[in-house]
Amino acid sequence: MKILIATTNKGKLREFKSLLSQINIETLSLDNMKEKIEVEEDGKTFLENAIKKAKEYASFYNIPVIAEDAGLEVEALNNYPGVYSARFYDIDFGGKEEIVTNKDEANIKKLLRLLEGKNNRKARFVSTVVFYSQKDFGLWTEGYCYGEIAKEPRGNKGFGYDPIFIPEGYNKTMAEISPEEKNRISHRGKAVRKLMEKLKKVL
Ligand code: IMP
Repeated sequence: MKILIATTNKGKLREFKSLLSQINIETLSLDNMKEKIEVEEDGKTFLENAIKKAKEYASFYNIPVIAEDAGLEVEALNNYPGVYSARFYDIDFGGKEEIVTNKDEANIKKLLRLLEGKNNRKARFVSTVVFYSQKDFGLWTEGYCYGEIAKEPRGNKGFGYDPIFIPEGYNKTMAEISPEEKNRISHRGKAVRKLMEKLKKVL
């Protein structure tokens, strides 16, 4: 069986491929598809966005899809960046941040600026994963990874906010641990393992 992993984020794709390698499915990514479509992520929740992506890609490419919406929720910032995680640097909350090298770096810079002087640095990563077959059948799961925001970025593994996220029980950031260990404890690892259990029962 072939399933399209509906993401263009290379970090996410790498993690999905590794996590899904344990079941017998062939994965394709959006880069494998000749015709491109844009799906606007305008939902108010991770679930709304993930369902929208899964349904639109499944009906356009006529193939089962796994889509994910993920992000970082910071307690002291009213759970922002949340669904705005990918473009936090550019939204109307706490001032905009200029891109100097890349978006991830601008997002991190803004988050650290907004947390300056705050004692509460608690945060969690959320991953909402949706499987949608083009035959009107869907499943979804969610995974969380709790931790806190570091004072400065450390490490060069992973992607996104990994260099400033210290998982609970660790003194390293998510960008300082191996990809295998990240998959074991991450929001995405937890959500995908739950999804695989459900998929095994129906596929
Ligand atoms: P999405 O592609 O709309 O789901 O955007 C997710 C954004 O949240 C990414 O661009 C990252 O900034 C952030 N994010 C999601 N998962 C992770 C992760 O595992 N590590 C670090 N950042 C993440």
